[in-house]
Amino acid sequence: MRIIVCENYADMSAKAAELVAAQLTLKPDSVLGLATGSTPIGMYSKLGELCSAGTADFSEAVSFNLDEYYPIRRDDPHSYFTYMHENLFSKINIKEENTHILNGETDDPERECEAFEKLIKLHGGIDLQILGIGRNGHIGFNEPDAVMNSYTHMTRLAPSTIKANSRFFRSADDVPRMALTVGMSTILTSKKIILMASGAAKSRVVSELIGDGINLTVPAALLKLHSDVVLICDKEAYRGARLGVDIGGTNIKFAVVEGEEIKLRKSIATKDTCNGIIDDIASEISEIRKSYDIKAVGVGTPGLIHDGLVTAINLPFRDTPLESLIAERTDLSVTVDNDANCAALGEVVFGGTKDCGNIVLITLGTGVGSGIILNRSITHNGGEMGHMIIEAESSRKCGCGQYGCWETYSSVTALVKDAEEQAAKNKSSILYTLSDNGRLTGKQIFEAADKGCGTARAVIDRYIHYLAVGIRNIINIFSPEAIVLAGGITGQGDKLLKPLIRELPEDARVEISILQEEAGALGAAML
Ligand code: F6R
Repeated sequence: MRIIVCENYADMSAKAAELVAAQLTLKPDSVLGLATGSTPIGMYSKLGELCSAGTADFSEAVSFNLDEYYPIRRDDPHSYFTYMHENLFSKINIKEENTHILNGETDDPERECEAFEKLIKLHGGIDLQILGIGRNGHIGFNEPDAVMNSYTHMTRLAPSTIKANSRFFRSADDVPRMALTVGMSTILTSKKIILMASGAAKSRVVSELIGDGINLTVPAALLKLHSDVVLICDKEAYRGARLGVDIGGTNIKFAVVEGEEIKLRKSIATKDTCNGIIDDIASEISEIRKSYDIKAVGVGTPGLIHDGLVTAINLPFRDTPLESLIAERTDLSVTVDNDANCAALGEVVFGGTKDCGNIVLITLGTGVGSGIILNRSITHNGGEMGHMIIEAESSRKCGCGQYGCWETYSSVTALVKDAEEQAAKNKSSILYTLSDNGRLTGKQIFEAADKGCGTARAVIDRYIHYLAVGIRNIINIFSPEAIVLAGGITGQGDKLLKPLIRELPEDARVEISILQEEAGALGAAML
């Protein structure tokens, strides 16, 4: 199931309308399955706008509605027949004869249902089914206690549905007790399904959809058996807690996130064996689950991930199936991604670049790491920016085997190496005096420059120059809205940022991460 979490109801409606319009562009004579209720009203109104603007065309489309109350007159203001004409059909260019709604006036409901099911089949089945979800998890009017392998049929509404739908009537007594509805089997044979959910009242059932397993008391959970379902919901509806784990060489960090609220942060030391690391992660997760209803776990790790196998130089992972190892121990759904990617996601969701959809995160440390976020999602195409060649004729050999990689100029390792070489050549310099027998830290290099050391200044200027060259390349390739820098050296703040910005295009937005090493676990939680 693909999950799209939107900021609010309006965004959710617009997103769903976009997908319906795209379906009609791809297949103008699509057979659409339509829902009623309060959830799709915004989407229907958006589709009306798209149709008027010429970006959605229903002229060849066919529609089948999910359900209708029984008995009910078609012209009753509460009938779904009235609802569909008021909310959608009157606003779009669909042909009346191509719309199908179960007839709540029929005196032979069984025959009506049979004929409806046959007609759907005659049209080749539903291409795109739109669904809302009841607070009790029903879809269509397939209530929790109903038979699940059903086709179109008459059903009795659950007391919880009568209560929920009484908001559309004068009182609960006025809500019809029966309905005609397509069955779960009809729904599950649709080619594509869009399920929409909005508001906190739906958060419990939505968490059943995103959690593991199939809870048979929640009919919508059966959608997990379908291979092409998109759940589009707003933040209110998407509430389950998620756990992010960021495995580093020294520490493993944990973060619990509910919605976008950070509930817990925790850190433990990293063991030096693979089993030790997995054991620790599994037992921390089970401890955290005592206080939080964790639905999913995201894990960030350094290294390369191929077909789910992780190989990391500074951790005991060699073709390690991290995802399945943690999933087996915790019985939770686990997603593993590269740690820099997770940190970049953390920056865009929780950091100073929340207002951006597209950012690049650069981590300056032992190497140069990067994560690319496009449209608020991690992109896995490329991203080894530390290994872009910044000096074609360079004699600096990188660990990857190439010469002149950005990492050999802009990592803190490179800065320190340069500074140590220059200090050794200028033993009378402040830089050398501050060193420990010629050994330096990044902090000491900036300290020497602060004290007026020309040697240190020249080393820093060169470092910043190469940093700027790399960033200019990134801007030219991606035009990100912002570039975020992270890593211990960014603690130098304006001493690093101001001269860097002077070497960049005027409109470039470069920021120092406010989350720093917390970004990884937070981003992992959002995987
Ligand atoms: C309506 C339907 C129902 C609704 C559900 C949610 O055709 O099939 O399953 O989608 O009851 O209703 P709202 O959107 O009003 O919360």
